[in-house]
Amino acid sequence: MSKLKSMQELIGELRAKQEHVKQGGGADKLAKQREQGKMTARERVDALIDPGSMDEFGLFAEHRQTQLGMAGKQCAADGVVTGAATVDGRLIHFASQDFTVLGGSAGEVHSLKVADAMARSLKTGSPFVFINDSGGARVQEGIDSLSGYGQVFYHNVMLSGAVPQISLICGPCAGGAAYSPALTDFVIQTRQAQMFITGPQVIKQVTGEQITSEALGGADAHMVHSGVIHFVAENDEDALGICRRLLSFLPSNNLEEPPRVSTDDSVEPNSQLNDVVPTDPKKAYDVRDVIGGIVDQGDFLEVQPGYAPNMVVGFARIVGRSIGIIANQPSVLSGAIDINASVKASRFIRFCNAFNIPLVTFVDVPGYLPGVQQEYGGIIRHGAKLLFAYSAATVPKIQVILRKSYGGAHVAMSSRDLGADYVVAWPTAEVAVMGAEGAVEIVFRKEMQEAQDKAAKRAELIDLYRSTFASPYVAAGRRLVDDIIEPADTRRRLAQALEYLRAKRDYRPPKKHGLIPL
Ligand code: HXC
Repeated sequence: MSKLKSMQELIGELRAKQEHVKQGGGADKLAKQREQGKMTARERVDALIDPGSMDEFGLFAEHRQTQLGMAGKQCAADGVVTGAATVDGRLIHFASQDFTVLGGSAGEVHSLKVADAMARSLKTGSPFVFINDSGGARVQEGIDSLSGYGQVFYHNVMLSGAVPQISLICGPCAGGAAYSPALTDFVIQTRQAQMFITGPQVIKQVTGEQITSEALGGADAHMVHSGVIHFVAENDEDALGICRRLLSFLPSNNLEEPPRVSTDDSVEPNSQLNDVVPTDPKKAYDVRDVIGGIVDQGDFLEVQPGYAPNMVVGFARIVGRSIGIIANQPSVLSGAIDINASVKASRFIRFCNAFNIPLVTFVDVPGYLPGVQQEYGGIIRHGAKLLFAYSAATVPKIQVILRKSYGGAHVAMSSRDLGADYVVAWPTAEVAVMGAEGAVEIVFRKEMQEAQDKAAKRAELIDLYRSTFASPYVAAGRRLVDDIIEPADTRRRLAQALEYLRAKRDYRPPKKHGLIPL
């Protein structure tokens, strides 16, 4: 009869097994990972969470494939670290793919572990963070790996709008695997990582086009061209820092308010704001200087800064309350709204609305961008998204008109008519159907043709139109603007409005869902 092991021996065995699995693919592979400037899967988790807060699930999970050389092959934790932990004292669930184990490839058990962590996120109302570093579906497991990915995608959709989902791309993210990040709310990509559906070799074979994998799926490509990602990170550490900072603005789920952080309670006037916006509507400025002068400690987390920079979106706080900011950027395309700007802002608005984050919109917009490419590209369909997203949003909506607010773009940028709860304008505001120069060409063409001194007549009529419409007073007279305020006082007025709109309730007719023009 074999001798029963003592508790001491059993504990010793357990510890040895734990240690072994935590070595992932082994010392050589871990060293190679670090040589490439990447952290290991476990180091990434440690850098994300509060020290000592991790509860790991499935450390001893193993694949069950017996073919193609997989029989008896040990795959530590099946190539993915999953669990629960806290970030700044708040619960999250996470998955972190381990590239040292079969290239982080996703077999059946690997993906079921990820899906299980996601299901726990949903049950507990906690954000889900997925750190991607993987060669994609595990080739040796065939359709079982496809099915596993299907489970992950399905859970991505179940979590959507219920808990925030953040993806970090810290290594390869190839093929269909890229559709999990695509289904999440925010994607952070490091400069070491690449993400694409089909790689350069396949593209060359199929279309003859030649491109490097960096130019095709690197962080800059996705920030500037595709709009797939929201933040570029210099390296893993930077990516994890961005993730923590992003989480700090968000509630844990759709039933909670965002955390109130006491960052700056002062609402003293900021007289520097009176000098940021030029009174000449043709002069550009950086709207981020306006935002910086209003929010707590000038701290603004800009989302997708390199994509459609004519529209600025991001998170900030006013007197400790999270807000989502949407702003036209007069220094790019004069702040005109194009297809990409509309899609970018609409998605951000819907995220904020789903997670109870009030919307503050700064308007300085000459209109929708004219052009054949814009029309052929569907500016009508895509521009409509912005109207839809604002109208459908039930969170507090505040509009601050800084300067130009013309035409359809005026209506689209969170106007009173789309349900804004509070509208203020700076004295520089011009609410009008279009700019005075364009308007006189339409309304007074005959008068100008008949005038002896055409230039003088034109200037006179522009002045007439401008003094009639191009000020905030007409709009205030029609109740489209609640008040005209001094720029310096904007922070105090926003703090007050956010306070009294705190308990806002807005009702919508019951329906399965609205039909945003996708
Ligand atoms: C199994 C894989 C793997 C995979 C990598 N490995 N990808 N094993 N399935 N998908 C293994 C390699 O065999 C190798 O094992 C180890 O991981 C490290 O890979 P390397 O190639 O040495 O690393 P590197 O040179 O850095 O290249 C990384 C890579 C490359 C670019 C990701 O491995 C690669 O191209 N992999 C295949 C990518 C791919 O086509 N995936 C399938 C996509 S289809 P050893 O033992 O030698 O160290 C897909 C469909 C999903 O994802 C659909 C969902 C609906």
